[in-house]
Amino acid sequence: MSAVGIVAAAGSGLRLGADRPKALVPLAGRPLVAWAVETLLTGGVDEVVVVVPPAERAAFAAALPGAVALVDGGDTRTASVRAGLAAAGPGADTVLVHDAARPLTPPDVVTRVLAALAAGAPAVVPVLPVVDTTVVVDEAGTVTDAVPRAPLRRVQTPQGFDRATLVAAYAALPDGVELTDDAAVVRAAGIPVTCVDGDERAAKVTIPHDLHLAGLQVRR
Ligand code: CTP
Ligand code: MG
Repeated sequence: MSAVGIVAAAGSGLRLGADRPKALVPLAGRPLVAWAVETLLTGGVDEVVVVVPPAERAAFAAALPGAVALVDGGDTRTASVRAGLAAAGPGADTVLVHDAARPLTPPDVVTRVLAALAAGAPAVVPVLPVVDTTVVVDEAGTVTDAVPRAPLRRVQTPQGFDRATLVAAYAALPDGVELTDDAAVVRAAGIPVTCVDGDERAAKVTIPHDLHLAGLQVRR
């Protein structure tokens, strides 16, 4: 089995509100995207493609090892992953798609995803339980229902796929349909998605507080 990693790094990071694209924001002196690439390589991925904002190619090239291929992303995550998938070398039979915004993902998560693929799963996601009480509210902000928590999971990346399965699922997804992760694309094509244990350290950096927490973890 050979695996290619696609790092989705073409977002602007509006909610983080930094002075540069989120993937280039430093954590302990290294851009988030460099952390994400290292996790994939340490965890057992053979090659990596990073999807970048077209206007920032040079800055990403300077931030990453030369062996990493750069591809121009699109306006949405779905468009960016489509571009990464088209550019990923045809040699690999499995694909891991990872968010640049999850810099402290332990390589063990990558290893677990690869192991589930090797065991025959066509699609694999790392997940965590939901620990807070979760409710439904109406437009006035009044609680109308509580959601049973036991069957709920939070979905992280890297998500792993049989390559042909992921390519076919993206080809079948109508243009203009935007999904927030790749397992949703595969599920829309009727493919079962297998869960492995995620890790709290794989949390996504979305708002400034998340970057603060990541900084505390690195210094530990
Ligand atoms: N992403 C991407 N291309 C896009 C949008 C997002 O490759 N057009 C990537 C981001 O770079 C990020 C991952 O998808 O690594 C998860 O997206 P998110 O956390 O939403 O990042 P941003 O879209 O950059 O942030 P925001 O939504 O706050 O603008
Ligand atoms: Mg976004």
